[in-house]
Amino acid sequence: MQRNIILIGFMGTGKSTIGRNLSRTFGYPLIDTDHLIEEREGCPIPEIFAEKGEEAFRDVETETLKSLAKHSGHIIATGGGIIGREENRALLRELGYVVWLIAKPSEILKRTSRNNNRPLLNNEDPEKTIRDLLEVRTPLYRDTAHLGIETDNLSFDEVTTGIIESARYHFGSQAEQE
Ligand code: S3P
Repeated sequence: MQRNIILIGFMGTGKSTIGRNLSRTFGYPLIDTDHLIEEREGCPIPEIFAEKGEEAFRDVETETLKSLAKHSGHIIATGGGIIGREENRALLRELGYVVWLIAKPSEILKRTSRNNNRPLLNNEDPEKTIRDLLEVRTPLYRDTAHLGIETDNLSFDEVTTGIIESARYHFGSQAEQE
């Protein structure tokens, strides 16, 4: 059994912050696929997009996900577009308990406008991009996740506690079945 907790969700939904919180509280080390990609490529994500293009980034993203297949006992935070490929969606579910962090487009816009390290939103109308991408991605997040959490009216601590409780329940009932 793979007892990882995997965080998926759109850019700016708090995956890294919640991931750090979960790591501290659950006592599981945190892995961030975006950081692994930057390490692999030796440069920041905006540079990968600018120099090699999005498809090349997606290829490295899939390779990175595959490299985690044997991991157990980790919190895994992922990039917002990782659910785009069917192959990735299957890999994510094989890794463990998949939690989808959900936020309103206005909240996403507020959180992502604090810096410009997300190449997909560095354009004239990031709000439209967010809405367009959400339309395509929402069903994919829904299909992939075991649990979805609306984060808009919750504190990071409340989200963390909710995930811990449901992950314990999930792993507990899974153990009973084995
Ligand atoms: C992306 C999200 C980013 C990063 C890359 C592409 C996306 O990660 O992987 O810029 O397609 O949504 P975050 O969700 O951590 O910002």
